[in-house]
Amino acid sequence: MPESPDGGAPPQTTDAENPKTAVGKPSGDPPALSKNARKKLAKQQWFEAKKAEKKAALKEQRRREVERKRKEWEESLANVHEEERAKLLESRRILRKERMEKRSQEKEEKRERLSLAREVGQNVVVDLQFSHLMNPNEIHSLVQQIMYCYAVNGRCVSPARLWLTGCEGEMESALKRIPGFDKWIIEKENRSYVEALSDKKEDLVYLTADSETVLEELDLKKVYIIGGLVDRNRWKGITLKKAQEQGIQTAKLPIANFMKMSSSQVLTVNQVVEILLKFLETRDWKTSFFAVIPQRKRCQSDSEKNAEDKAEEENEQDDELTASKKKCVEEVLSNS
Ligand SMILES: C[S@@+](CC[C@H](N)C(=O)[O-])C[C@H]1O[C@@H](n2cnc3c(N)ncnc32)[C@H](O)[C@@H]1O
Repeated sequence: MPESPDGGAPPQTTDAENPKTAVGKPSGDPPALSKNARKKLAKQQWFEAKKAEKKAALKEQRRREVERKRKEWEESLANVHEEERAKLLESRRILRKERMEKRSQEKEEKRERLSLAREVGQNVVVDLQFSHLMNPNEIHSLVQQIMYCYAVNGRCVSPARLWLTGCEGEMESALKRIPGFDKWIIEKENRSYVEALSDKKEDLVYLTADSETVLEELDLKKVYIIGGLVDRNRWKGITLKKAQEQGIQTAKLPIANFMKMSSSQVLTVNQVVEILLKFLETRDWKTSFFAVIPQRKRCQSDSEKNAEDKAEEENEQDDELTASKKKCVEEVLSNS
């Protein structure tokens, strides 16, 4: 794991390590990285190592907890008479049965809500025509985000009608690998949104942080499109350009009216979907932004930020789902 100078903060590249010293010397080696690129790489490696460390610790903690409960249960069985043991086993059987019944009832209710959304829900499209611009890690990240969007939508009292358009090639293969994906109650389209929703072209609104139009309200007649892209802003302005070329309306979320962001106002796909869902429920942008946009992306004074917040911000790792979101994704998988 990359060393951190103070044990807590991300590493800083020193001048002594500056690869620029190699500049100008022709050799067969790969081109030397600039000081900034090395610094960024070191921070990213530190961040990733720290994340892996946390993940392993959490896994170990869970394993111990399961083991502790199992031992506790075995001891409680070993310390009682035959009759009492039978009672304990029976009550556990009933509890499990009740839990399973509750789960299948919730699953059924979710299916009903999602089916109704197909008729009356707000149309929200994730445009998947950007897979050629992403590396395998970014595609994986987008798939995770889509799983999370589906999970959150399923939990809503009034879900949106979610669409995945331009679902073909690598993106389609990656989605098809999700266990139970074929049973998802969602609109899956190989065609682009322009083709799939050709009768609604006037009502298509591409959401993009680069638009000059600020979204005021959500209109049930309109179809809101989100760029299915994980690019750490490498492809700045790409969705605005696409929409303009297609003659489609664009709009940005009214974030600036309610909060200051520490860096750009470009959010991840799952954050935008979650904000729209929260707004459909509350009709209040402020509540929706504060519920979804992570604290570290909001403007805080430097003294309020800890080293990890800063490192995370600089590394722009926001397209990675947090542990609680991953848990929610696991739920989708086990429920479908
Ligand atoms: C990670 S961003 C992709 C950024 C990409 N460079 C672009 O040009 O859109 C994923 C998508 O979320 C939506 N999005 C992100 N931030 C937004 C904002 N502040 N307002 C409206 N839509 C936003 C856009 O549809 C965007 O394509």
